[in-house]
Amino acid sequence: MNVLLVGNGGREHAIAWKLAKSKEIKKLYIAPGNPGTARCGQNIDIGVNEYDKLLNFAKEMKVGLAIIGPEDPLSAGLIDMFEKAGIKAFGPSGAAAQLEADKAFSKQIMKTNSIPTAESRIFDNFQDAKSYIASRDEAVVIKATGLAKGKGVFVCDEPSEGIIAAEKIMEGKIFGKAGEKILVEDKLLGQEASILAFVDGRNIYVMESAQDHKAIGDGDTGPNTGGMGAYCPAPVVTEKMMDQIVREILVPTVDGMNRNGTPYRGILYAGVMLTQGGPRVLEFNVRFGDPETQPILARLKSDLVEVMLATCDGKLDDVTLQWDKRAAVCVVMASGGYPDDYEKGKVITGIEEAESDKDVMVFHAGTAEQDGKIVSAGGRVLGVTGLGNTIADAKAKAYEGVAKIKFDKAYYRKDIADKAIKKSKI
Ligand code: AMP
Ligand code: GLY
Repeated sequence: MNVLLVGNGGREHAIAWKLAKSKEIKKLYIAPGNPGTARCGQNIDIGVNEYDKLLNFAKEMKVGLAIIGPEDPLSAGLIDMFEKAGIKAFGPSGAAAQLEADKAFSKQIMKTNSIPTAESRIFDNFQDAKSYIASRDEAVVIKATGLAKGKGVFVCDEPSEGIIAAEKIMEGKIFGKAGEKILVEDKLLGQEASILAFVDGRNIYVMESAQDHKAIGDGDTGPNTGGMGAYCPAPVVTEKMMDQIVREILVPTVDGMNRNGTPYRGILYAGVMLTQGGPRVLEFNVRFGDPETQPILARLKSDLVEVMLATCDGKLDDVTLQWDKRAAVCVVMASGGYPDDYEKGKVITGIEEAESDKDVMVFHAGTAEQDGKIVSAGGRVLGVTGLGNTIADAKAKAYEGVAKIKFDKAYYRKDIADKAIKKSKI
């Protein structure tokens, strides 16, 4: 069948790379894609938010499955548009995608269904938020309730920092409309894990666990980013812990979404904090995580198209996924300055050399092709993923790849996966 994948990040390159291996695919189109996805299928010059054009293209090319990577088109209801036109589409409806796009909605679903998460309050007015934060004497987490590319969260050890963050979001409008309302949340302590599952409205199929590295700096310092690296599996997520996460978080979320009249289909991604009191939800995402998807899909042996079709058709109970026993580690190479301002257009060399090792995959994120050369074109530029028998081996592979790739002002964290290596027995 013909498949259309929408998106242009590292996540979409990893998805396209995996789709290209499927026996179900006749033709793979990626809109708009990037120079990495161009090696897996045909890039189409249509942006992720050009909904009518995407739909018309899919009709014209007789697309049998449309896969939407990023959150913006999902929350705008692109899946509903495809389905209305009779085209099978992988992802949640616009209404269900509010689980990520509106943190107030998400908290409400959690509250109604007794899903463990941090205590929080919502404010739509800075003065009220300020008085509340000032009345507290412990750390606070301030979150814009709308979509902010993973940068809308400020973890503040002092209430005074929380007030500054709330002011930037609500008065400085740094995230525009996404920051009209904020959540003021208790700070949770523990290790984080990303739990991604296929959900077909009723059945849940959990993937191997992963861990992201949100902060820009080594040792989890500095501001949050879209994610600077990830590994899979996450050893902190023991089998027992995974069972608890499924029982206490995923099952009640899927049930709760049904009861709410917004049934959930697609990828359900729970960002959880493993606290001493048990797992707590930090956020839900309604799509594959980036960069987590890179190490997760590097390990998936089963056909991705088959499981996506089963998800769309409500037949996940027929599916069993096979995984590579090895671990995978992804190190993100970013433009110096990210997540603040950075320069683009830097020529990148060494990608082929890095990929000459069969256990290293280089996924493109913010790259472009210019005069036959690959240049940087975004904050997160590349994700270098290594496979190895242990997490330490996979880390070594990923960093060997990173060492071969050069571009001016390239920045990457040096400690991706260290937390796991210290704890891991594999
Ligand atoms: P979110 O987008 O809500 O997952 O938040 C981004 C990151 O901020 C998370 O991955 C955590 O590192 C951190 N974070 C969010 N909420 C909390 C919380 N309640 N306590 C501690 N850290 C948090
Ligand atoms: N890596 C976090 C996210 O995809 O939102």
